[in-house]
Amino acid sequence: MLIVIEALLSKDEITDARQQLLGARWVDGKSTAGTQSAAVKTNRQLAENSPLAQQLGALILRRLGANAQFLSAAIPDKIFPPLFNRYGLGEGFGLHIDNAIRPIKGTSLAIRTDLSATLFFSDASEYDGGELQIETSYGAQSIKLNAGDLVLYPSRSLHRVTEVTRGERLASFFWLQSMIRDDGQRSLLFDLDQSIQAVTQDLGSNHAEVLRLTGVYHNLLRRWASC
Ligand code: NI
Repeated sequence: MLIVIEALLSKDEITDARQQLLGARWVDGKSTAGTQSAAVKTNRQLAENSPLAQQLGALILRRLGANAQFLSAAIPDKIFPPLFNRYGLGEGFGLHIDNAIRPIKGTSLAIRTDLSATLFFSDASEYDGGELQIETSYGAQSIKLNAGDLVLYPSRSLHRVTEVTRGERLASFFWLQSMIRDDGQRSLLFDLDQSIQAVTQDLGSNHAEVLRLTGVYHNLLRRWASC
């Protein structure tokens, strides 16, 4: 399941963040890559422990925590502190898979990466290339969103960022561990939740069938969730 969340950050938040990001010190993106990934990765990142990454990361986590669509789609357990990258002319990230387990720097914690997220800080019109291409069972999907928009996709997917041929692509990326490990179960719960929201609009929250469906949702969650 691939979900796009539009306008997670406002235009003002993006403008402010971009100003700070462009003035920051960037390091080689290979610093957070595994062996196979490092061989195909050419970009720059903010250092994981940089104060700016922590400050902007905290803003992103606040917005995610208040976003009903994200909570319904991800059912998050633990979210990796957001990282930031930039791809300039000639830079890209070849086909790879994200590491299954990510230690969180400076702590003894690690997360299992169930879902990967990219939050765009550049508008699609600002650069050519730089598309996030995700391999799915229905073929490759190409993602290029506007600044402030986020895409969420299963971390088990092979993916790449195509070479930037004009301009620059600025983004945040991170992973999360979901309370629902299995993509199929998580996807069913998302569909059920979306239907319950729609039916509630028509019938009201106290209608007997709305109550029964809400019960089914929570009982499936109880059966499948681990936290
Ligand atoms: Ni990746």
